[in-house]
Amino acid sequence: MTPTPEITTHESEDELAEAVAARLVLRLVEIQGTGRVPSVVLTGGSIADRIHRAVAAFSASPSASAQGAVGWSQVDFWFGDERFVPADHEDRNAGQAARAMLDRLPVDPERVHEMPASDGEYGDDLGAAADAYAQEVRTHGSGEFDVVMLGVGPDGHVASLFPGLPHLGVEDTVAVAVRDSPKPPPERVSLTFPALERAREVWFVVAGADKAGAVRRALDPGADVHEIPASRPKGRDRTLWFLDEQAAQEL
Ligand code: 6PG
Repeated sequence: MTPTPEITTHESEDELAEAVAARLVLRLVEIQGTGRVPSVVLTGGSIADRIHRAVAAFSASPSASAQGAVGWSQVDFWFGDERFVPADHEDRNAGQAARAMLDRLPVDPERVHEMPASDGEYGDDLGAAADAYAQEVRTHGSGEFDVVMLGVGPDGHVASLFPGLPHLGVEDTVAVAVRDSPKPPPERVSLTFPALERAREVWFVVAGADKAGAVRRALDPGADVHEIPASRPKGRDRTLWFLDEQAAQEL
């Protein structure tokens, strides 16, 4: 049976970001302590950006316990979704994560698994880009992510799985091409539900009053995934919801 979601509420966005960052660092240290290379799926969005900055700040802290706590070159980073734009476009989730966190840590670039850009190897062939990423996930490592982080939109979307779109029903592959995202830009690549659920832990990270309705609906046991995609992803071991007070106000 899937464990019940665990919810923690934080006073502000900054407190939420710091709590998630500290927990991520701790989780990575624990996993590395068992001799495994942890794998983390990153998300885009504004709260993710704060979390990424908090991770980088923590790691730059003068405290001896913080420094070197994580072996950053031994962590695999993946992306839950990506905007299909040129590699240097400011909309790229990978670029955002690089500026806020990855470029500021001694990560191994070979372990940062970016989704293809629209000016890369596959050109503007969005389908080929999605297939290539699916293949990369399939051929890599243990087949299971340790932590999948997911922001939630006011409409209840996660990654680029938007309410009402047909790719919500895709069960037989890891990544899909999204051509009609209601949130710009319209063309994206997204992991599918089955891929997001190859996770030991799923962490929802949600801040702001505009998300309160989506959070309430996603946590309703009777939620319809086609209306509220955030209701579906569950971690095999744990599903955590990190909220600020505004996002939690309808619970
Ligand atoms: C994207 C994001 C998206 C995001 C949510 C929440 O590519 O648009 O991955 O799924 O996580 O929309 O974003 P905010 O934290 O900015 O509200």
